[in-house]
Amino acid sequence: MKRIFVVFALAFLTLGNLSVLNVKAEGETYDVGVAIYQYNDNFMTLFRNELETYFKELGEADGNTYNVEFQDGKNDQATQTEQLNNFIAQGKDILIANLVDPTGADQIILNAMNADIPVVLINREPDVSTLELWPGKTTYVGVDARQSGVFQGEIIAELENKGDINGDGVVNYITIMGDAGNVDAEQRTKYSVETLSETIKAESLGEPQRGNWDQAKGQEIAANAISQYGEQVEVIFSNNDGMALGAVQAIKGAGRTINEDIYIVGVDALPEVVDLLENNEFTGTVLNDHYNQARTAADIAVKLLNGEEVSPYYWHDYIKVSKPEDAELERTEYREESIEDYQKRIKDTYGE
Ligand code: BGC
Repeated sequence: MKRIFVVFALAFLTLGNLSVLNVKAEGETYDVGVAIYQYNDNFMTLFRNELETYFKELGEADGNTYNVEFQDGKNDQATQTEQLNNFIAQGKDILIANLVDPTGADQIILNAMNADIPVVLINREPDVSTLELWPGKTTYVGVDARQSGVFQGEIIAELENKGDINGDGVVNYITIMGDAGNVDAEQRTKYSVETLSETIKAESLGEPQRGNWDQAKGQEIAANAISQYGEQVEVIFSNNDGMALGAVQAIKGAGRTINEDIYIVGVDALPEVVDLLENNEFTGTVLNDHYNQARTAADIAVKLLNGEEVSPYYWHDYIKVSKPEDAELERTEYREESIEDYQKRIKDTYGE
């Protein structure tokens, strides 16, 4: 809980002399509860490490102590709900939550509201209605998944042959998806293909398959598709780099050569993928900027700890990565947005 340590040095008053009152504020101690949907996730590990590093930096800079406790939700909402309710019972000052299932977030927000503990949601975009439950004290810090899908489509469309390796005028692709109901998975799947289709006809080989962000599943899905469709597979859209790394193994295992007889595009710009790009063993990815998302999430958390009201949305941009330099991390400004402006922007830009 909030504790104020104020140390008063001795005050001396001597005749004819000014009184010297030396007040040294040692800062506040804040207890921060961070719930991660699952530790076993390459991208969320980068995000989590950045949060930890940045809270330390913040404490060194402002003299406050941020006691940050992380919990692994193990990809199970019941487990995570218990962890969040424990945070609330312990009287954490703020919660940062990467929910397993953001559609089930409402009761958690209401519990936090009853205990007057603000909530910063990260990584998995919640419904507008969730952000309306406790305005000013609940916020989402993230990136707009539609943008990452558009960039994936552009990466393929910008290739000399537009992804059409066999030159028949149609790009045949498969999509490896994240988990069901996940906004990132839905939007990347939709906008990658919609964007490519603005340039060339694109046809899916079978339905998108769910790899749940997991490398081993990505490998399995790609291996099956390649053995079923053979050379017909010209492009693999993967909702994230983790699953794409699995697909790369499957592609190599099948004796195919990336950027010669098959293309692959992911999202996140994991260091492993940037290395592959460097060697021309990967087509392109999209930086899912964990660095700025983590830092902004912590900065907004600090505003809330200071009693401020915050906006419903704080956004960063995805960045298209076709060469390693594109994935360099640098601190950028966030964009604040109200619910009204968000809904208008989505309607105007994407017609949703
Ligand atoms: C990332 C994935 C990650 C997922 C977790 C997505 O934004 O691109 O790599 O597994 O978030 O929710």
